[in-house]
Amino acid sequence: MSLKFGSRRTIVVSSPEIAKEMLQKHDLEFSGREIRDAARALDHHKFSVFWLPAQSQWRNLRKLCKERIFSSERLNASQGLRQEKVQQLCNYVRQHGLKGQTINIGEAAFSTSLDLMRNTFFSVDFAQFDSISNSNTSREIKEMVWTALKTAASPNLVDYFPVLSAIDPQGIRRTAKSSYGKLLDIIDGIIRQRSQERNTSNTYLRKNDFLETLLDLNQQNESVLSYMGMKHLILDLLVGGTETSSVTVEWAMAELIRNPEKKSKARDEIMEIIPQNEMVQESDISNLPYLRSVIKETFRLHPPAPFLVHQAESDAEINGYMVPKSADLLVNVWGIGRDPSLWSDPTSFVPERFMDTEIDVKGQHFELLPFGSGRRICPGLLLADRMAHLMVAALLHKFEWKLEEGIKPEELDMTENFEATINKAVPLKAIAVLEP
Ligand code: HEM
Repeated sequence: MSLKFGSRRTIVVSSPEIAKEMLQKHDLEFSGREIRDAARALDHHKFSVFWLPAQSQWRNLRKLCKERIFSSERLNASQGLRQEKVQQLCNYVRQHGLKGQTINIGEAAFSTSLDLMRNTFFSVDFAQFDSISNSNTSREIKEMVWTALKTAASPNLVDYFPVLSAIDPQGIRRTAKSSYGKLLDIIDGIIRQRSQERNTSNTYLRKNDFLETLLDLNQQNESVLSYMGMKHLILDLLVGGTETSSVTVEWAMAELIRNPEKKSKARDEIMEIIPQNEMVQESDISNLPYLRSVIKETFRLHPPAPFLVHQAESDAEINGYMVPKSADLLVNVWGIGRDPSLWSDPTSFVPERFMDTEIDVKGQHFELLPFGSGRRICPGLLLADRMAHLMVAALLHKFEWKLEEGIKPEELDMTENFEATINKAVPLKAIAVLEP
């Protein structure tokens, strides 16, 4: 389907076959991005792995992400930093559970995702993070991350009618400038403090986090990773990884609470291999096939990023149709995930459908593309995969869950809301029931 929005032509792809054609066979031609006006705030687009064209600067950043930040080896080395945060999530849930109070699962998952990422990147937790950033409270930081994501994703008239750029009628670039600026200042403070510690202390103990790796690279070769490049990369990773991970946890828990027999099945599987008094570890995930199917089914029904948005770098012929250079490509991941010709009973939550299949989310199965495919595939996939499984596993392992008085599981409101991601229009609130 070809649509015209203002001055822009958009080709909508709704089938796995054409998605494969464009993202695999014609990957090079379709790996561009049309730079949104918001992304120009503070020149973010000149450094951002998300917005850079798929050329040498972008390739360097992607290589760095793949080999030095998100490799299995690096993630294994930093898993202890994440484990501690999941323990804190469980403590928080327990405290509320003891008092019979409801928990906003999306909010708790957002805070935990942000904590998991901060710890993985900087080995810094809430309190330290706040003191480095002076007066910024954790809530404010969350607000900044959310606003930065939202401004990049919001429909902006300027993107369709560039003549309006000077006016910025919805104020989106101004808002982006403010949220990017505040986050970049915080990141700057953290980098400077670590650099100082590395340079001045003889007894400095190296940390197992990403920042240590980034500073090494920056010191070794500034042309591969400049100081600005480092700051904008961290900004991209924080903004790209937090909300996407937390909405996945919220949807997974909502689907499980709405389907109590699936919840029990997932919980039984975890209980069978991990004693109640121990914590689930990332290394346990490969031994939990039903849990893995639960997360895949969540991605099928509720992909946090419902569309992949690329741009044609050159004219290309697809299935006998000419796609002109500069056209936008919009792969409808959400629609493909619910297509009745591909999935039986597509709107029902049935993790069992993945139990005996090879289908995964790594970009090779075009009927399930929550992380995209091809050269623009999400670089944080392996970290996101670990975080989502770990959080859901911990929430199931340690607690039974019930809804507030008067709400039956089958009546849970599952309405979707599309802002920067597809999130739950009515936040999931549930009560943790503690084991006797
Ligand atoms: C459940 C969690 C996540 C989902 C569903 C998700 C999904 C996606 C999708 C669909 C894309 C666009 C792919 C394309 O254009 O074809 C993307 C790109 C990206 N993601 Fe993720 N993501 C998640 C978590 C993360 C995490 C944890 C990080 C980093 C810590 C991250 C960093 C990025 C970056 C930097 C890009 C831009 C890549 C580029 O343009 O080259 N994401 N993600």
